[in-house]
Amino acid sequence: SPIIGGASHVGSPLADDGPRQPFVIGVSGGTASGKTTVCDMIIQQLHDHRVVLVNQDSFYRGLTAEESEYVHEYNFDHPDAFDTEQLLECIEKLRCGLAVNVPIYDFTNHRRCSESFRKVNASDVIILEGILVFHDSRVRNMMDMKIFVDTDADIRLARRIRRDTVERGRDVNSVLEQYAKFVKPAFDDFVLPTKKYADVIIPRGGDNHVAIDLIVQHIRTKLGQHDLCKIYPNVYVIQSTFQI
Ligand code: CTP
Repeated sequence: SPIIGGASHVGSPLADDGPRQPFVIGVSGGTASGKTTVCDMIIQQLHDHRVVLVNQDSFYRGLTAEESEYVHEYNFDHPDAFDTEQLLECIEKLRCGLAVNVPIYDFTNHRRCSESFRKVNASDVIILEGILVFHDSRVRNMMDMKIFVDTDADIRLARRIRRDTVERGRDVNSVLEQYAKFVKPAFDDFVLPTKKYADVIIPRGGDNHVAIDLIVQHIRTKLGQHDLCKIYPNVYVIQSTFQI
């Protein structure tokens, strides 16, 4: 349940059988590509581990009164729309085994909820999901594994229209206008160029059960190696890039 008020960080370092740095996974991809579904499926399959999901959307800057007046001119798909410093701080704390308070963002009024936060506890696996999570090199460098969800643009647009009209209080015309003016150009300029940083590229998102199974197997292996590294600190892990 949300914490009312409070500072941006709470809790104390994980106190179990010694320090263990969480495994950080980044999940990126265009709007409505199925990032959330992929994350949910990974979380379900890793039910025997402590896994937390952090959405980049939570770190959208709230609009000022002036920006709200011209909301149709605001580019929510530009990297500057996010408070990346705050996101960075949050992931750094989680990596150190501290719990954090993540802001709650409201897509209907483009504002942050000023008093409530979502408390995210320290965990074994941290999944960071969002259209631009690979954009900032500092955020990217904190990730142990990077996944890009690669879904066709027509499928994404169809999903986006349905989602924005049903869940985000928009009308079809405004969704199409925003898509043509901001979403598609920003995808080409900022999201797609970060695909090259991915370790794994998943076609068809959440429909791709084989890819999710392989990814979960890999995470399990790495979590095992995390334990091994505690016992044998000189064990090296070699990373490779592959496409499923
Ligand atoms: N956005 C918006 N209005 C806001 C804030 C963001 O329309 N006030 C839109 C941006 O245009 C951006 C999108 O929200 O393209 C980012 O969310 P998206 O990645 O589509 O949502 P997820 O649910 O994370 O996507 P997925 O379906 O891949 O899980």
